[in-house]
Amino acid sequence: MVSLPKITFFGAFCAIFASTAASRVLELSDRFMDIHKEGQWLVMMYAPWCAHCKRLEPIWGHVAQHLHATSIRVGRIDCTRFTNVARAFKINGFPTILFFKGDQEFVYNGDRTKDEIVRFALRLSGPPVQEITRTQSFEAIKKAQDVYFLYIGERTGHLWETYNKVADTFQPHAFFYQSYTNVAGKHAPSENTPAVFVYKENSHYHFTGEDRNDREALNDSMYKWVNAERFPTFPKVTRGNINQLFLTNKNLVLAVVEENQLEEIQPDMIEFRDMVQAVIMKKRDKYHDHFQFGWIANPDLANSIAMMIVPLPSLIVINTTTSHHYIPEDEPRKLTPHAIELFLEQIYNESAPTYGGNGWLVRMYRSWFEFRTTLSEMWKGNPILTMVLFGLPFGFLLLICYSICCADILDADDDEEEESSHMKKD
Ligand SMILES: *[C@@H]1O[C@H](CO)[C@@H](O)[C@H](O)[C@H]1NC(C)=O
Ligand SMILES: *[C@@H]1O[C@H](CO)[C@@H](O)[C@H](O)[C@H]1NC(C)=O
Ligand SMILES: *[C@@H]1O[C@H](CO)[C@@H](O)[C@H](O)[C@H]1NC(C)=O
Repeated sequence: MVSLPKITFFGAFCAIFASTAASRVLELSDRFMDIHKEGQWLVMMYAPWCAHCKRLEPIWGHVAQHLHATSIRVGRIDCTRFTNVARAFKINGFPTILFFKGDQEFVYNGDRTKDEIVRFALRLSGPPVQEITRTQSFEAIKKAQDVYFLYIGERTGHLWETYNKVADTFQPHAFFYQSYTNVAGKHAPSENTPAVFVYKENSHYHFTGEDRNDREALNDSMYKWVNAERFPTFPKVTRGNINQLFLTNKNLVLAVVEENQLEEIQPDMIEFRDMVQAVIMKKRDKYHDHFQFGWIANPDLANSIAMMIVPLPSLIVINTTTSHHYIPEDEPRKLTPHAIELFLEQIYNESAPTYGGNGWLVRMYRSWFEFRTTLSEMWKGNPILTMVLFGLPFGFLLLICYSICCADILDADDDEEEESSHMKKD
């Protein structure tokens, strides 16, 4: 009884907090089509009936709260009421997150978490390359970004122009900065400027590209370098970022573990993941050009890649150009760093057996596998609902088939009966 007022107070507090967070979200109408080119907008296109939209709603409130002090306006549009908006922006799924900046329009495809969405908006809101003018800013940037690119030097010359162009292409996916030797101080090497670096995990790597006077070769090599370097050395791989990882054209080496709802992982799986991580951390130079490492916390994603229930923990390697995958022959728990290295060597010299791929038969099998897995998950979660949803239509289907196929037999029986009754009359 005593604690009751406290709960109510807490509840009220939450309600107030939630409502201020939600109230930062602008409810937009079809008038948005007239004003979307003015300023910067982060907009969620939603439908009231869509479950994913409902799940995104509280996150969207927090995104709006977080971006409140910036020039980005956060809103949402009910596409079932304003169908002309959905048509104008070619929305074909809900929710769709869009960022508008002048004439430009960007679709967000990443994970629907507050941090990721906020970062996406912040990356796009500034110019492709953001200038760092104060030494103190480096600390804040290091804390906020796990990967970022840095150009040190004056804003002229081929290297700068190429950097700027590549930054423009990758702006939705990475942070690009520019600064000067005297501003960067101890935060960047001061020799041989201008120079381009990537920063990750307390290290930096120097871009040592082609001949700086050959514009095309320079563009090509910097483009490839940025595309390959824009990920952490050992990222968590999700449905939101796996498509971007596929664009690296490397082999993805993934440690598959399982995370519970509280984002906890069992100690033995953590040990396995750390072991896989150690391989790339210790031998980055050897593997970096051909292998992108990472880890998956959602076994469903790994299952749908491998088209089977993978044991946990396990290791799976995917060739991102052909979508073939490789599975070590050893039992995953018995894998050692040495065994992993041998396995990667076999993949590299193409002597390891491959599975899957991207043929139509494999794609059909994958769809079937996913359907079957979803069905069995549903069955475990709620057998009665699954029965009603799938059993009932199936039952009807059977009944229809039965009546079509067996109709002749029934008719025949009827005829015979009739005939026999005639006979009796005679
Ligand atoms: C730079 O190189 C990339 C990748 O090779 C290419 O797609 C892009 O069109 C090039 N840009 C220019 C301006 O040449
Ligand atoms: C993926 O497989 C193709 C065909 O076997 C091969 O040419 C390519 O080098 C492989 N990719 C990587 C990153 O090894
Ligand atoms: C590929 O690499 C493995 C592991 O080092 C080795 O045993 C095998 O002989 C190699 N195969 C070819 C065809 O080079």
